[in-house]
Formats: sequence, structure tokens, C-alpha cells
Amino acid sequence: AVERTLSIVKPDAVGKNVIGEIYSRFEKAGLQIVAAKMIKMDEEMAGGFYAEHKERPFFKDLVGFMTSGPVMVQVLEGEGAVLKNRELMGATNPQEADAGTIRADFAESIDANAVHGSDSTESAAREVSYFFNEEEICPR
Ligand code: CMP
Repeated sequence: AVERTLSIVKPDAVGKNVIGEIYSRFEKAGLQIVAAKMIKMDEEMAGGFYAEHKERPFFKDLVGFMTSGPVMVQVLEGEGAVLKNRELMGATNPQEADAGTIRADFAESIDANAVHGSDSTESAAREVSYFFNEEEICPR
């Protein structure tokens, strides 16, 4: 099925100037970028986005990292977009990510891991609407 998923290029990858290289991987895999914006999140915005992790020991560091610089937020659309994006990203911990994945190639650590991607169609729906109105999404 054609799906939408929420993708974030995190502050480490924006800082390394590899937004375009990461976008190329989405496009080469047949995913279309149907909405995108650069934002600098504040604590409230990042904390709300990661609310499901609120009780986790890494929550404070995660919010600190995600507010440390600008991020690119995009909606990817395509056949099986949620899983396809997760395959392109590789494992959360870049040390465990398969060769050729975005995290293997661009990420340094489990916090500075270059990208985020929704983990299910349910979280994709929530995450897309967290950042975008329906009018901001431009399917072709
Ligand atoms: P992300 O897909 O953005 O979702 C939550 C983030 O928390 C995750 O990527 C990691 O960057 C970060 N994180 C830090 N420590 C952990 C951990 N032990 N398990 C899962 N995620 C972690």
C-alpha cells in the first residue's frame, strides 16, 4: 500500500551538510518527498514529539540533542514507505547498522544517529500531523 512516513534529518547530519545525500537515498529508493521544512525545535516541541520516551533514562539527552541545532523534517510517500524508510536508515545504534544504510554511513552514536523515521503506520499518522497540516502536504 502507498503510505506516508515522517522523517527527520537530525542536527548532526544537518551540521555535516549531508541533507542532500540523505534525500537522494529516499528518492533512489522510490520515496517521494511530499512535504519538507527546516526547523529549530524548542524543548516543548521535541519533548512532545518524543512523549512516548518520557520515562526513559535517555529522554533528557534526546531532547537536548534534538534542540541543539536545526533539523529537516519531511513526509515521505511511497509503496511501503514506513518499512522502506526504516531499511534505508538502518539500526538505531549506528554500530549495529548494516553497511550502506544512512546510519552506518553518516551517524556517530545512538543519540547523534543522523535520522528519525516513524516505526509504524500508526505512529507515522501521529508524527506527520505533529509537524504538518494537510495543506502543507503536496502529493504528486
Ligand atoms: P529515534 O528514532 O529518533 O527515536 C528515539 C531516539 O532516542 C532514537 O532515535 C535514538 O537517537 C535515541 N536513543 C538514545 N538512547 C537510546 C536507547 N537506549 N534506545 C533507543 N533509542 C535511544
